[in-house]
Amino acid sequence: MRMGFPDPKRTRSATDKFTKERTYVRNLTLLDLEACVALEEAAFITSERCPRETFSYRLKVCPELCFGIFTIRRNKEYLLGHAIATKTLSPSVTESSMAVATPRHSPHNPAGPTIALHSFAIQPTHQGRYLGTTLLQEYIRRMIMGGCVQRIALIARDRLAGFYERFGFRCRGVSSVKFGGGEWMDLVLDF
Ligand SMILES: CC(C)(COP(=O)(O)OP(=O)(O)OC[C@H]1O[C@@H](n2cnc3c(N)ncnc32)[C@H](O)[C@@H]1OP(=O)(O)O)[C@@H](O)C(=O)NCCC(=O)NCCS
Repeated sequence: MRMGFPDPKRTRSATDKFTKERTYVRNLTLLDLEACVALEEAAFITSERCPRETFSYRLKVCPELCFGIFTIRRNKEYLLGHAIATKTLSPSVTESSMAVATPRHSPHNPAGPTIALHSFAIQPTHQGRYLGTTLLQEYIRRMIMGGCVQRIALIARDRLAGFYERFGFRCRGVSSVKFGGGEWMDLVLDF
């Protein structure tokens, strides 16, 4: 396994350093759809957002690959970040794995050895507080424990490659994906 986590001394969680708010990570379900759509709208520009029907599809067919980081305020749960994925046979993220599901095409392939992490975001109000680090560390840990997969792949803008490389992701060059105007980098974490 070539995975490496950032130096633990540098990855205190947001709860330690900033807010004292207790956060926790749990699986997402269809009941979280509206919160995920709202978070996506807040975190991404229009051309880079995942459409509602695609979130709905992913939360329905593979909730075991979808996680959120939450806090509780006045007895109500708030979604602070999400990691939403499907499985693919390809070793990297493809247009096909990102496509909208149709009766003739199901983008999630349960037999795929690659987790395609399509949407990873933290609420803008809570960015820079190590919640992204906490969620991604936990996501990787749970995916490794779950077994049956060989890697996590994602696409990211060049400026974000460094963030993912801290977790052991390797940059594999420019992705062929044209979503959102293209010019994405392929990043892969081999287990
Ligand atoms: C990218 C994102 C998920 C990071 O989550 P976060 O909680 O803000 O990040 P963290 O607080 O855990 O950051 C940890 C480290 O990564 C660095 N980092 C965070 N965002 C970065 C960025 N955009 N570029 C470079 N470094 C970044 C931080 O500076 C920090 O470094 P430090 O330990 O030296 O201080 C979050 O900023 C986000 O949701 N952005 C908008 C949506 C997006 O672009 N998602 C990624 C799609 S591929």
